[in-house]
Amino acid sequence: MSALSRDDWYDIGRDVDWTLSYVDEKEAFPPEWTGIGDVPKEAWDAWDEPYRVTFRDYVRVQREKEAGAHAVREALKQLDLFVVSENVLSNDTVNAGAHVLLPAAAWGEKDGTATNSERRISRQRAFLPPPGEARPDWRIVSDVAQRLGFAEAFAYASPADVFREHAALSAFENGGMRDFDIGALAAIPDEDYDALAPVQWPLRKGDGPGHKAAERRFFAEGGFFTPDRKARFIAPEPPALKEATSVAYPLRLNTGRIRDQWHTMTRSGLSPRLAAHLPEPFVEVSPDDAAAFGLSDGGFARVATAHGSCILKVMVSENQRPGSLFVPIHWSDQTASCARVGELVSAQTDPYSGQPEAKATPAAIAPVSFSLRGFAQTQAPLTLPEETWWARVTSAAGIEYRLATNRGPMLWHDFAHQSLGHDARLAERLDGQSYHAASFVEGEFSGRICLAPANAAVPALTATDAEDGIPFTIAAQALVESEPIVCACFGVGIEAVRSAVQSGAVRTIDDIGKTLQAGSNCGSCLPELKRMLIHARAQQ
Ligand code: FES
Repeated sequence: MSALSRDDWYDIGRDVDWTLSYVDEKEAFPPEWTGIGDVPKEAWDAWDEPYRVTFRDYVRVQREKEAGAHAVREALKQLDLFVVSENVLSNDTVNAGAHVLLPAAAWGEKDGTATNSERRISRQRAFLPPPGEARPDWRIVSDVAQRLGFAEAFAYASPADVFREHAALSAFENGGMRDFDIGALAAIPDEDYDALAPVQWPLRKGDGPGHKAAERRFFAEGGFFTPDRKARFIAPEPPALKEATSVAYPLRLNTGRIRDQWHTMTRSGLSPRLAAHLPEPFVEVSPDDAAAFGLSDGGFARVATAHGSCILKVMVSENQRPGSLFVPIHWSDQTASCARVGELVSAQTDPYSGQPEAKATPAAIAPVSFSLRGFAQTQAPLTLPEETWWARVTSAAGIEYRLATNRGPMLWHDFAHQSLGHDARLAERLDGQSYHAASFVEGEFSGRICLAPANAAVPALTATDAEDGIPFTIAAQALVESEPIVCACFGVGIEAVRSAVQSGAVRTIDDIGKTLQAGSNCGSCLPELKRMLIHARAQQ
C-alpha cells in the first residue's frame, strides 16, 4: 500500500466533516499498518475519535481499492513481463507500464471469424492491408509464446489452424455435457474454412452440412447441461445492494453509456460530429440535488465514493431522479484529466452472475470551482500543466482541449511558449485575468490557447500582438461553450430545438424533422427530441 494522498485525506475527512486545513495537519498512516491490530496500543489510545474513525476508513478504502479498478492497474505494474498487443500508441492499459508494445492489426485488417449473440459464427475477411509492421493478434500471441519457449504449442500458420484447434477443444471430453461444441468443424480444410457460410453452434461431430438441429432454441425441450439433464434452481438471497448509503455518501451513483459514444471512445471519439453531442465528462444530477449540494448547471463537481473520485462537469436535468447521480463510462486518462469512472464503482459482484454492482455505488458530490476556463486547439496532443482540469475533444480543425484551472495567466503564457512556440511565431494578449495566444507556421494558423474567467470573452488578437507584426486577426471568442448538439446527423443544437418548440412552430417529431431536419436520418436522437417535446408541453 502507498501512503495516502492529500485527495484521499480530503475524501476520508468528509466522513467526520474535517476541514482541509485539519487534514493538512495530519500525517499519512505508515503503509505497513493494514488493520486495527497493526496500530501500536499507545498510538491508538492517544488518538481522538475522529482520528480512529479515519483510520478505520483508511483500512476500508485501501482494502476496497485493492479489489477494484485501481488494483488492476497496480497489479499490471507488478508484472515481470507485460506485453501488450495494441493498435494505439497510448491508452490506460499501455500506460500501466507495458514493457513491450506490439503493433496489432485493427478490425477490417484481420481475417478470422466472429460470433454474434445468437450463436452464429461468420467469416470475417480483411478488407484493408495492415499498415506498417502491424500483425493480427493470433500471430503476435503465437510469436511471443514461441519466444517464451512454447514453439511447439503455438505453431499456428494461419487463422484456420487456430480455428481448428478451437473447434477440437470445444468437443474435447464434451459428450453432450457442454453447450458450446463445434467439433464438426475440427478438421475443416483450409478451402472450406475460407468459404465457410454463417453457421450456428452447437455443431457436433457427425452433424453434417445443412444440419438444422442447432437452429432450435436452446432448452426448448429441456436437456440442460447437468448429469440428469434437468434444470437446477438456485435460491439467491433477496436482491439487495451490498453497499449502503451513509451521511458521507448519501447518493447512489449510476454509470452507463451516452448515445453517441462507445466504450472508451477509441474509435467513436475520433468523430468530430459525434463529439459535438456531449463533448465533456459530466455528472447528471436532479434539480433538487443540485440545489441541495450547491451545484450549478455547467459548473464542476467532485463525485466521490469510498473507492475514488472524479471531477466532472455538472448537468442539471429533470431526467435524473433525486438521490441518484448518473456518470458516463467513456472517458479514460487519455481523454480527460479526472474522469475514470471505473475507479469510483464498487467492486462487489453478484455471486451467481458475476455482474458488478456498478450502478448503485454510494456517492457524495460537492462543487468545485475554477478561476479560469477556456480551451486549446492544436494539431498534436498536449501535456497540460499539473492540476489542470481538461477534456480532449476531436474537432474538425484537429484536437481541442476544454480547460479549467486555478493557475493564473502567466503560467499559461509560459506554457504557450513551450507548447505552441516551436517553429512557430506567436501572437498573444494578456488582459486582466484573460489570456489569448495563437501560433502560426509559415503564415498558417496552427493552434491557440484561450483562458478567461467563466462566461467572459477572451480578447481578440491583432497584428500588434504578434512577435513580428505580420498582419492577421483572430476574433474574440466567448468562452461560454457552444450549445450541445442533439442531432449529430444534421448538427442541430439543443437551443435550436428548444426555441422552435417554445415558439409553437413545431408540435410533433414530424414537425421537427420538417423544420430543422433533426431526427429525420438515423433516428438516434428521437428519444431525446421526444423528451424535449414532452417537457415543453408540460411547461405550457
Ligand atoms: S442523430 Fe441521426 S437523425 Fe438525429
